[in-house]
Amino acid sequence: MNDFTLKDSKKYFSQTLEFHKNNLLFQAHSHHPWTDVAYEAMEKYFILVKEKLDFKWNDIFNDYFPRTQNLILEMLNCPAHWEVSVSPSTHDLLVRFISAMETKTKSENRKLSCLVSLSEFHSARRQFQAWQQSDQMIVEWVEVEFSLLKMQVFLEQNPNTVDLVFLSQCLYGSGYFFEETELLKMAGMFPHIYFVIDVYHSFATRPLNFNNAFPNMIFLGGCYKYAMSGENCCFLVLPKKFPFNPTNTGWFAEFGELEKTSALATTRLVFSQDGYRFLGSTFDPLGMIRYVSTWEYFKSQGITLEKIRWHVLELQNELVARVINAKLHWLFPPDDWSTGNFLCLQFKNSEELQIMAKYLETKLVWFDSRGHVIRFGFSIYQDISDVEKLALVLNNY
Ligand SMILES: Cc1ncc(COP(=O)(O)O)c(C=O)c1O
Repeated sequence: MNDFTLKDSKKYFSQTLEFHKNNLLFQAHSHHPWTDVAYEAMEKYFILVKEKLDFKWNDIFNDYFPRTQNLILEMLNCPAHWEVSVSPSTHDLLVRFISAMETKTKSENRKLSCLVSLSEFHSARRQFQAWQQSDQMIVEWVEVEFSLLKMQVFLEQNPNTVDLVFLSQCLYGSGYFFEETELLKMAGMFPHIYFVIDVYHSFATRPLNFNNAFPNMIFLGGCYKYAMSGENCCFLVLPKKFPFNPTNTGWFAEFGELEKTSALATTRLVFSQDGYRFLGSTFDPLGMIRYVSTWEYFKSQGITLEKIRWHVLELQNELVARVINAKLHWLFPPDDWSTGNFLCLQFKNSEELQIMAKYLETKLVWFDSRGHVIRFGFSIYQDISDVEKLALVLNNY
């Protein structure tokens, strides 16, 4: 135990944990339980909608949206003046962002050229594959597991052919984690290339430090994992005055300008001057409401990202120390904590994995799998007693 260890943080999730009394929930990395505070906030929102109907949007855009933007910047530790847009999915934001990048390359009469890591989540992987297959853009793929070296070498050898790099800070299939300093170093080396960093698996897991982010860095992430807020609250964070506007655009991208421009709007495409310009169209804001209510409440309770990280590290260390079953292999050695908030058990093939998966299900362990690994996610709704139980299950396998 250290000063940061959280002793009674289960209480924030009492509704979910009460329902799951007999289950061992290790899915913080895929669907994190929602807080009791989020439940109360959703009830409050129902009352707001009942009373204000369409006027609810005033509360959403004058209150919830700026609070969401501020919190996201704070949790990324990004410069406070950067722009934040939200959308139901990261996929939606990726497509919109690429449409902005293509205004640049189209004006230069060429296709957009992207370098994408081979460890990207399905939405990004599929979308880049589709763009490549339809010949819309040039896409190169690069291996990044364990190191950014191959990516760096590719960029050095092809200095003027890449417009954009797409890379996750923490790889979804393994949990391998790139420190912010590594990402900053890379973006600093190639200032003419835009680096889109998918932070879905790092956001809200620990204090991040993108305070010195370069103007060629863009962050993409969302809130149904460690940010505990469910779907519909994904975000795109851009440097102030990012020079291109999207061509995939909905009416929310014009907010703040609507009144000024209504006469022009039918003949000229007008954009808001801030994070609004990457918004799409009408969406359900409940994700944002769960996010703000949870994290503002945590702040009031002294729950910091630093404490969350220490809590998780302690649980992970404890599990690895307790599992002595020689049949089981962690993907990363226990002394290598360059890993996110989930741990992976590695299997030789899918048959072996399936046998273990069935066994875990009979023991009421909630987990998930990707490729040849089984993933266990950690967070502050668990304590040592959960880890003891999981270790027992794994040792009895
Ligand atoms: C690294 C990463 N990015 C993004 C996502 C979510 O993508 P989307 O918002 O398109 O559902 C996930 C989901 O697991 C992920 O692991």
